[in-house]
Amino acid sequence: MRRPLIAGNWKMNLTRSEAVALAEAVAKQADQYPTVDIAVCPPFVYLEAVGRAIAGSRVALGAQNMYPEPSGAFTGEISPMMLCEMGCRYVILGHSERRQWLGETDSFINKKVHAALKAGLQPIVCLGEQLAEREAGHTLEVIRAQFEGSLAGLTAQQMIQTVIAYEPVWAIGTGKVATPHQAEEVHLELRKLIAQRYNPEIAQQVVIQYGGSVKPDNAQELFAQPDIDGALVGGASLKPDQFLGIIAGMKK
Ligand code: PGA
Repeated sequence: MRRPLIAGNWKMNLTRSEAVALAEAVAKQADQYPTVDIAVCPPFVYLEAVGRAIAGSRVALGAQNMYPEPSGAFTGEISPMMLCEMGCRYVILGHSERRQWLGETDSFINKKVHAALKAGLQPIVCLGEQLAEREAGHTLEVIRAQFEGSLAGLTAQQMIQTVIAYEPVWAIGTGKVATPHQAEEVHLELRKLIAQRYNPEIAQQVVIQYGGSVKPDNAQELFAQPDIDGALVGGASLKPDQFLGIIAGMKK
């Protein structure tokens, strides 16, 4: 059965020494939570240092983005193989900040998902509706379109390797967390979509995280929902006590 995953998305934050100290603090406590998979996703330039800081611990390394080609004339970009060489297990793809500020589309994200899987990385694919879309009652429609677009063409085995992060855009970095009911509704819909495309057994194996203002004081009620398998944590992942407090909220 699926194991919950709690991943810290550090975004464009921290100095190198802060990043190492944070990673060490998380790694030191990680053994206390054997039933939860834990990952940290620092900026590219700190991957190596953070990788060293978590070596031998239960904490896995993830990157925040990737380019979908194996190598070549793509100035400023990072390939899947480079992330593998840094020891990454995960790569966050299609985060709403990249969709919004860097123009990433579902079809581009889909290319990245395929390239990541081919390289042996586990993609954490983000999707979520904007506030106006929720208010207009279009949430599930938006989610379906993003699911179809960004996760097109995966084999059943590749679907199981892929983590989905449902992150309502209006909840990211705003302190406005989705209610457990709002989040569960979307997670259940995603599981239905997977079951329709593959089968219910495959759907039961896919890890679906929630993301958006997860904090120690709201984590437990979110994680109590049957289809919420952990969290992608931004702001609260930058403080060891908060990140570990969220992990402690996972009792499944
Ligand atoms: P937040 O960010 O926890 O700061 O809302 C979540 C994310 O963007 O993954």
